[in-house]
Amino acid sequence: MGKHIIPLFLPKFLLMEFEKEIAKRRTFGIISHPDAGKTTLTEKLLLFGGAIQEAGAVKSNKIKKSATSDFMEIERQRGISVATSVLAFIYKDKKINILDTPGHKDFAEDTFRTLTAVDSVIVVIDVAKGVEEQTEKLVEVCRMRNIPMIVFINKLDREGKDAFDLLDEVEQKLGLTVTPLSFPIGMGYDFKGIYNIYEKNINLFSGNSKKNIEETIAFDNLDNPELEKIIGADAAEELRDNLELVEGVYPDFDKDAYLKGELQPVFFGSALNNFGVRELLDCFVNIAPSPRPKKAEERLVKADEKDFSGFVFKIHANMDPKHRDRLAFVKIVSGTFERNTPYLHVRHGKKLKFSSPNAFFAEKKEIVDISYPGDIVGLHDTGNFKIGDTLTSGEELHYKGIPSFSPEHFRYINNADPMKAKQLYKGIDQLMDEGVAQLFTLEMNGRKVIGTVGALQYEVIQYRLEHEYGAKCTYENFPVHKACWVEAEDENNEEFKEFKRVKQKFLATDKKGQLVFLADSPFSLQMTQQKYPSVKLHYTSEFE
Ligand code: G4P
Repeated sequence: MGKHIIPLFLPKFLLMEFEKEIAKRRTFGIISHPDAGKTTLTEKLLLFGGAIQEAGAVKSNKIKKSATSDFMEIERQRGISVATSVLAFIYKDKKINILDTPGHKDFAEDTFRTLTAVDSVIVVIDVAKGVEEQTEKLVEVCRMRNIPMIVFINKLDREGKDAFDLLDEVEQKLGLTVTPLSFPIGMGYDFKGIYNIYEKNINLFSGNSKKNIEETIAFDNLDNPELEKIIGADAAEELRDNLELVEGVYPDFDKDAYLKGELQPVFFGSALNNFGVRELLDCFVNIAPSPRPKKAEERLVKADEKDFSGFVFKIHANMDPKHRDRLAFVKIVSGTFERNTPYLHVRHGKKLKFSSPNAFFAEKKEIVDISYPGDIVGLHDTGNFKIGDTLTSGEELHYKGIPSFSPEHFRYINNADPMKAKQLYKGIDQLMDEGVAQLFTLEMNGRKVIGTVGALQYEVIQYRLEHEYGAKCTYENFPVHKACWVEAEDENNEEFKEFKRVKQKFLATDKKGQLVFLADSPFSLQMTQQKYPSVKLHYTSEFE
């Protein structure tokens, strides 16, 4: 018996501490179409958490409409967005981690990847515009993964759509089953306040964005004649009718159904006026899940397991262009992450130690000794990580669920400075690891094709290759409709061999070496699928 016995089980008091820390975590993302009010809501949530003192402290990292052709603006914004990548604060003894999700469609992949690291989401919808395109896409991803969602209908201080029409729209366009937990009294010019169905009280609108604590009037019996005095006879009657309808039409709130992603509570308010936000936050801390188990290829991993595991969902580069400094964002799935402790980088099969992992708090980051499941740590990296990498205490785990999606744009990339070929390939390699775009190598001639979600990325890539790697590139159009990942029922069957021979011109490999079919039109995609039924063509790189 030596002195160096490592306990197989944590002592009970430590275990309880660990479980308490997990139960405190709420890690979520706010998704919306640009301009619905995500930044404003984030800021008001931080105000409630006491993490910031005044409105305007959180810089919007969204790319303004005017900037869509101005990638220098994007470079400037990148500096801001590292600060808002993770915003953490404490509210009612819960540790809240908000993960930033860019609303701009050219950065949709970034958002899809971040959604693999959240345990729940809040969906913000503009009361006048209703369900918009980006919201539909992002909610679809959440729905497919059964992520619990709460809907916040924003800008009630403005004229907008009727509340019931909006609830219908949310159900139909987003495929959700909703139940309102608050209900507006009037709207726009006549906006009087909100009835909180969850807590049974009324909050009257005063349009004062600076107020921190809202005064509420307890109102569990709506037949009370006091209601007329407070909001007027007409509004009182309308509210009673509306709530009767709510009760008759929508299911009762059921926390289990919400947690399974089967029922979505809806709140109304005005983020700008800090109104209806407290109702949302109080309910959120109560019902939103603490870190959920995550599927690895090998098994399901639970948060309260003793051994550490986590995965990289985002890489932020170019914090200091001179040093090619990158920050890899790791979501902790299980166990604790400790400073200066060696962890297995599963893809490389080697152990790495981190002397200055960053934790995030409000808009600051600081070095942290220990982090818990649900937390995000930022690891300084010089090129070891790529998106989707897993770190563990030693187990060979591979986390699932960071698929690549078919890009929308495709271009050949050519080297414009033959003396700098090495720099160019290194630059391309690293930018692809960061998830800026996808690289495909054509089977026929080895030419490289870059696929992106938005045309803007080509300028960003060109600019960064030149400024960070000293390499120059040019592009050439390559007309592709969709990239589809190929799955062969049997790689040795004649049909697959013929597919590969006939379609060679359209075949490429992605960075992982997976075979991809680059269809030049919807028609050719359909014909190919019909002609080779045993060859499955997928729109994403991960399939069961
Ligand atoms: P985003 O992050 O989802 O893109 O939206 P953001 O919060 O930046 O809000 C978009 C615009 O909507 C902003 O106005 C913001 O002030 C406004 N807004 C947000 N919440 C409310 C609300 O509850 N009521 C009203 N009336 N407006 C709201 P902007 O003029 O585009 O920007 P700014 O100049 O005010 O920053």
